[in-house]
Amino acid sequence: MARLSQRGSVPPFHVMELLAAATRRAATHGDAIMLCVGQPSTPAPEPVRRRVAEAVQTQTLGYTEAKGILELRTTIADHYDRTYGVQVDPEQVVISSGSSGGFSTLLMAAFDAGATIAMTRPGYPAYRNTVHALGMNVLDLECGAAQRFQPSVEQLERLDVKPDGLIIASPANPTGTIIDPAELAAIARWCEANDVLLLSDEIYHGIGFGRPTATAWQTSREAVVLGSVSKFHSMTGWRLGWNLVPEHLVRRVELLQGNLAICAPAVSQVGAVAAFTSEAESELKGHVERYARNRQVVLDRLPEIGVTSFAPPDGAFYAYCDISHLTDDSQQWTLDILDRIGVALAPGIDFDPVDGHRFMRLSFCGSTDDLHVAFDRLAAAV
Ligand SMILES: Cc1ncc(COP(=O)(O)O)c(C=O)c1O
Repeated sequence: MARLSQRGSVPPFHVMELLAAATRRAATHGDAIMLCVGQPSTPAPEPVRRRVAEAVQTQTLGYTEAKGILELRTTIADHYDRTYGVQVDPEQVVISSGSSGGFSTLLMAAFDAGATIAMTRPGYPAYRNTVHALGMNVLDLECGAAQRFQPSVEQLERLDVKPDGLIIASPANPTGTIIDPAELAAIARWCEANDVLLLSDEIYHGIGFGRPTATAWQTSREAVVLGSVSKFHSMTGWRLGWNLVPEHLVRRVELLQGNLAICAPAVSQVGAVAAFTSEAESELKGHVERYARNRQVVLDRLPEIGVTSFAPPDGAFYAYCDISHLTDDSQQWTLDILDRIGVALAPGIDFDPVDGHRFMRLSFCGSTDDLHVAFDRLAAAV
């Protein structure tokens, strides 16, 4: 048998195992409540669905230019102007297959194998795994609840090794915490001063509960900003994201994207234009109001299962909870809880290979009623 590459041996996304078990449970018992997945339970906004229905009838929807259709790139550039007062040249907007597609293309365009990329622990597992798969090294920034799971310039200053790149996410997965605008600006300036390429994951922007969010491009055009219609726009399966790319990197990203993916899905590009209309945005703000109500239920009811140590989420739809009073094996605990009471939660080891064994992530983007039922069952079970 031919020898296989190291690249393919990335760790699994453990929550997928939970999801498969929860789906089986739903089929056999009909009572599963999914608090393990990070995706809205709602479809794409109505204007998107209308636009796509019409486009499917009237347009060819073939390959687009590698960077994406100009109409969408201009729409996204306008969105930055309206939301943050930042003028963006549509030529620096590159549309990708989800922010995930943009992330791997960007890594390849900017770094060689052997590069060192810093990221928070806990953090989004695909970042760690993709960096490893591309032969790069991960530099962990250990960020505990006391620092609201987010890095600071002070922490970067203390590093023995200066990384080639730094990934931050605000609001973050799995914690929902936000980096305050002043700290984000300081991080962006530190990256510029130290020749570190900043990758600012802003895909949960729009889902916030009062704390202000800033974009890295308000401070530094040398940073890369990652955006997506997956979360706020409730369009995970449409696989549509974008990067704001520094001028010197645009052509490289474009060339790689053209070779690796040709372009992002044309039908999703056409639909996404309608996701930024005021009609779509008012529908989407209704979802955020539900997330805010759900967040309050989570904050009120977590103490019923003895969870008192967690950083209240500022955005996104997750709570990352210390469950060390309940287990030191989060993977087994989440499987047992699913088996006993039909509530699916994500084990912390997905997000933190070192300390995640004593954490779980709860996702509150579903219905408020389901959340209450899940807490009734959890409180009785533990
Ligand atoms: C922090 C973070 N970044 C990126 C992604 C990837 O999102 P997508 O590829 O759907 O844009 C996710 C998905 O859950 C995420 O949580």
